[in-house]
Formats: sequence, structure tokens, C-alpha cells
Amino acid sequence: MSTPLLEIQDLHAEIDGKEILKGISLTINKGQVHALMGPNGSGKSTLSNALLGHPKYKITQGKILFNGQDITDWKTDARARAGIFLGFQYPIAVSGVSVANFVRTAMKSCAGANFQAKEFRKEFKAAMSALGVEESFATRYVNDGFSGGEKKRLEILQMTMLKPTLAILDETDSGLDIDALKTVSEGINRLRGPELGILLITHYQRLLNYILPDVVHVFVDGKIVRSGGKELALELEAKGYAPYEKTAVTA
Ligand SMILES: Nc1ncnc2c1ncn2[C@@H]1O[C@H](COP(=O)(O)OP(=O)(O)OP(=O)(O)O)[C@@H](O)[C@H]1O
Ligand SMILES: [Mg+2]
Repeated sequence: MSTPLLEIQDLHAEIDGKEILKGISLTINKGQVHALMGPNGSGKSTLSNALLGHPKYKITQGKILFNGQDITDWKTDARARAGIFLGFQYPIAVSGVSVANFVRTAMKSCAGANFQAKEFRKEFKAAMSALGVEESFATRYVNDGFSGGEKKRLEILQMTMLKPTLAILDETDSGLDIDALKTVSEGINRLRGPELGILLITHYQRLLNYILPDVVHVFVDGKIVRSGGKELALELEAKGYAPYEKTAVTA
């Protein structure tokens, strides 16, 4: 058995002294797609942020292993350089920095001396076209005045260019119209392969019709309460989270 890509061991994290993650254990192997579904406020984005080492989220217990290495105390940029990518639920605007510049800078910082400007331009153009993004996108400021769908396409454009080995996609489907959902899903599927692991956070089963998950996890109140195959997403769609809530009465 090869080393897991990501191994989260009993992770607890708090924000401003309040515990949000209450003991998460999760293993993602290379090549796998794991979907994470759970009610609003259950801590899904907190988990994404903790995995990237956001300084506001304090890990109080547990470990994060990436390719067998303990990265629990690593800085965010070191995690990104190691190959972890986060597609934000709410991407922020960076006024004054063009999309092309932003992506080029991120790539340069990962590739160092191996960065090839000519290759970059070619690849960037091809990636934009595959995602149905107009060329003018490249010169616009990052997320400045972008529609919800444009913001999400930009996240996947970055992922396409940066070629991470672990991609955490936080509600990449939210705000996408039906056609964009298809285009973006195809973009993600093109990146699937034996080396890439994906943690896909979503509220909607329909995304999983396009991106077939290997495992689906139900996330409630800071914990994974159940894991199963893709049929679990259908069950959630039918029954909601009520059977998993604290107040649920067990017969
Ligand atoms: N930066 C922050 N400052 C204060 N509270 C926060 C912060 N980030 C998360 N929280 C709190 O932690 C809890 C979990 O939030 P989180 O955003 O992780 O939920 P979520 O599962 O991603 O929800 P949604 O489905 O609505 O995106 C919430 O109560 C939220 O208010
Ligand atoms: Mg969230």
C-alpha cells in the first residue's frame, strides 16, 4: 500500500477560542475524489482553511500528513508549494493585479528557476479557452467586479495552471449556471489522474453527476458522521441532514 496523499488524524481546530473542528480523521489516496457534504456552518470551510494553514484557525489537537510528511505547523505558502491548492468558496478581489499577473506570479513562486514564460502564455491561453473564458479575462483585475460564475471559473483556471497534487474545492459549483457547471466540471475532470487527490465540498448532489466521487462524507457539527459511496449523496438529497443532527431521536 503506498503512502496516502492526505491523512488527517483526529484534527481539532478552534477559532477565537471556539472549537469548530471536533476530531476529523480522513484519508485521501492519490487518484481519489472525496466529496464532503454538510449543513451550513458545520465547519467545512474551516477544515479547508485549516488544511491550508490559515493563521486564524488554531489547531489544538491532531495532525495533518501530506505524502507522509507532518505539515500541521507548515506555513500556507510552503503547503501551496508542496502541491496543495484551495479553491475558495468566496474568492476575494485583488484590485490592481491582473488575472494573468496573479497566475504567473503564483506559478513562478512554485516553479522557481524552472518557470518558462513562453510556455506559460501558451498554456494559459489554452486553459482559458477550455474553460470558456474570454481572452479579456486575463487583463481584468482578480475577481474585481466578477460575476459569481466568473469567480469560480478563475479558481479552476488557477488549479489548471498550478497542477496541484491535492485540490480542495470549496463549493466550486455554487453560483454556476447549468452550462458553466458542465464546463467547470469538465475542467476538473480533465485534471483527474492517478496523482491528483480532490476534496470536493458541495451542497448539491448534481455536481456529483459530473464529477463521480470515490467516497462521500457527511459532515455535521465539526465531525464526519458517516462515509459511503456516491449513493450516500442521493440519500442526503432525499432525507436531508435531520437524521444526523444532534437533536435527532434515535429509535
Ligand atoms: N473567520 C471566522 N471568524 C469567526 N467565525 C468563523 C470564522 N470562520 C468560521 N467561523 C465560524 O465557524 C463555524 C463554521 O463555519 P464554516 O464557514 O466552516 O462552515 P461551512 O460548513 O463551510 O458552512 P457553509 O455551508 O455555509 O459554507 C460557523 O459558526 C462560523 O461562523
Ligand atoms: Mg463553507
